[in-house]
Amino acid sequence: MKINKICCIGAGYVGGPTMAVIAQKCPHIKVTVVDINEQRIAAWNDENIDNIPIYEPGLSTIVGETRGRNLFFSIDVEKAIEEAQIIFISVNTPTKTYGKGKGMAADLKYIELCARQIARVAKDNKIVVEKSTLPVRTAEAIKNILDNTGNGVQFQILSNPEFLAEGTAVSDLLNPDRILIGGDTTPEGQKAIKSLVEIYANWIPTIKILTTNVWSSELSKLTANAFLAQRISSINALSELCEKTGADIHEVAGAIGMDSRIGSNFLKASVGFGGSCFQKDILNLVYIAKSYALHEVADYWEQVIIMNDHQKKRFANRIVQTLYNTVADKKITLLGWAFKKDTNDTRESAAIYVADDLLNEQANISVYDPKVNRKKILADLDYLETRSYKANASKITTCNNPYDACEGSHAIAILTEWDEFIYYDWLKIYESMEKPAFIFDGRNLLNKLDLQKIGFIYQAIGS
Ligand code: UDX
Ligand code: ADP
Repeated sequence: MKINKICCIGAGYVGGPTMAVIAQKCPHIKVTVVDINEQRIAAWNDENIDNIPIYEPGLSTIVGETRGRNLFFSIDVEKAIEEAQIIFISVNTPTKTYGKGKGMAADLKYIELCARQIARVAKDNKIVVEKSTLPVRTAEAIKNILDNTGNGVQFQILSNPEFLAEGTAVSDLLNPDRILIGGDTTPEGQKAIKSLVEIYANWIPTIKILTTNVWSSELSKLTANAFLAQRISSINALSELCEKTGADIHEVAGAIGMDSRIGSNFLKASVGFGGSCFQKDILNLVYIAKSYALHEVADYWEQVIIMNDHQKKRFANRIVQTLYNTVADKKITLLGWAFKKDTNDTRESAAIYVADDLLNEQANISVYDPKVNRKKILADLDYLETRSYKANASKITTCNNPYDACEGSHAIAILTEWDEFIYYDWLKIYESMEKPAFIFDGRNLLNKLDLQKIGFIYQAIGS
């Protein structure tokens, strides 16, 4: 089948950038991205390209080039479904906050709603592609809904997990390590796989396009994220040992990373990993293992989360302990709120938990992040339900520049590795702070010797 119309349900951090790149690389395909969130769609359509809702290096250029040509953003979900030959589902799959599997299983209600809507609207055969990370065997559930509630048309379900990392989404999409497509082994399933392979083959060498059965594809995505997160928890666990023994985690990571079997990526000790995927996917993996009574498997992976929570907590504790066991009414400046640099996404960011702990200790907190605003910061804290919105708002100041954020503060904590932090006038910042002036570098980003020369008391992770 010659594909010339596709749509994507969900205009988020995955759906938006992925479809923009497909539109750029496949000018012969009309790509429509739909979402029920009107505000988000309005932002994607904003005349000022700098106002698109997702910040990713290089993304606004691609959207600027393709929007209105063959890339469209709309709230008309039904029309998009009706028109498209391939429908990508890229809606959110958060951890369940209620009922069975609460706090662990992925909440599939948004996926199910999508499937029901597709079934209701589709008048001709469709290929439905799971883009969101999903538990193993979700494709089967989607297929059941589509086949049993549809208008008698044929659906082929493919799993095509997205491996892009935020902050590098565009380059990951343009030059991925691999594309994974899982589908049925039936002739119809293989035909559907071929249609999707042909789209990616417009810019990705076919050797990098891997096809598997649906369940292998679904489980591979969870496994990749679990392995990546496990590396961070492993290096973070050792960072605590380094702090006790006088070893330096940076040197240890350098030494083990040169072993080609281990490799040097993803060995940066930090205040803890965040983001929408790692915690959610591991909890999901743990839940699946438990549901098959594989308790040892579940416990093994759960430890990655336990370690990450410990790392965030001990970072906040260290600030309190170092500041003579109290931060009550002291001004603590947090530089960075996003879960990593080059994104405005804050989901599960370590900053939220560090701030929450410091607020419990009655600190006054001042925050500066180049891409995150006050509204988002307060919403993130509100979501934890530790205290009222008003109580958080009265203790948090947000600033539009780092120098105001640091003025008069007792300590600075670096929570995101934004490049610009490296180039600040640290002498000017030092002079504006209370003394002794502390820096807690949760990203091992700054130059220890330079800061010590200025007069800062500098503490990093793992040394
Ligand atoms: C991750 C996966 O990398 C990606 O393949 C998947 O599609 C989605 O989940 P993402 O969460 O966007 O991507 O960013 P990633 O670069 O993986 O970073 C996740 C977190 O780990 C961030 O908070 C980051 O700061 C932290 N991290 C990463 C470390 O603390 N140390 C490292 O060495 C690497
Ligand atoms: P991700 O990081 O996986 O892309 P996001 O939360 O950023 O996740 O984006 C998911 C998007 O999916 C949200 O903008 C949400 O409004 C949208 N969405 C959820 N359910 C539906 C639905 N039934 N129809 C259309 N859009 C939906």
